[in-house]
Amino acid sequence: MLVKLKIFRYDPGRDEKPRYQNFEVDADPMDRLLDCLNRVRWEQDPTLSYRWSCGHGICGSDGMRINGICGLPCQKLVKEYEEEVLIEPFPVFKVIKDLVVDLDPFFKRYNSIKPYLITKTESPERERIQFPRSQEEERMFEAAVRCILCACCTAACPVNQNEETANYVGPAALVRAYRYLFDSRDEASEERIQILDQKDGAWGCQTLWKCTEVCPKEIPVTKQIGQIKRKIFEYKKSVGG
Ligand code: SF4
Ligand code: FES
Repeated sequence: MLVKLKIFRYDPGRDEKPRYQNFEVDADPMDRLLDCLNRVRWEQDPTLSYRWSCGHGICGSDGMRINGICGLPCQKLVKEYEEEVLIEPFPVFKVIKDLVVDLDPFFKRYNSIKPYLITKTESPERERIQFPRSQEEERMFEAAVRCILCACCTAACPVNQNEETANYVGPAALVRAYRYLFDSRDEASEERIQILDQKDGAWGCQTLWKCTEVCPKEIPVTKQIGQIKRKIFEYKKSVGG
């Protein structure tokens, strides 16, 4: 089948303004959009810039906007697209070139929630074992661990897209915060709650569900953020706050 791509092009160092360029690629219906982008780059225009690495939904590096929806082209089969496919960089982030955006602010916010296990007690002789959980807890926890930091959720979030609330830490950082807040081995709940109990922290989420809609790993992002809010609320109630 013939796949028509309309691709955002912009090199801030050379171009006065962005433009769109059309390409046509002969593809198999089971090819992925990433295969088409690669064919454009390898056979038609080697100046086209985009990130990718694994090609299989693992590295999270090829996030972009496909027909207006944030997603991974390595996870999209061309047979799903009958008309021309519009390919653009993520909104929210500054364009470095074409489909490559500056993700430094994304990782800065991600780092702000301390995305690592914090322990205070003496290390056991062997590993720290997690307490058994209910099946529901296990499912939520396992889902959070699936996050590949692709930034699709944060780029798609209307709160992050709004200039007035753009400092919101964003759903991806909150998924990771959830992962440690509900990890029975972590010993920094209070510290984590202080970090998350902010207007640009968990309370920045307006429960708009866009993050959940676009997450390529099907993580219940909004639900997890809701559980963080509940945990903060319960903690403050327990200390009389
Ligand atoms: Fe990507 Fe989903 Fe993780 Fe957000 S929560 S960064 S959309 S994998
Ligand atoms: Fe690695 Fe798409 S290329 S997730």
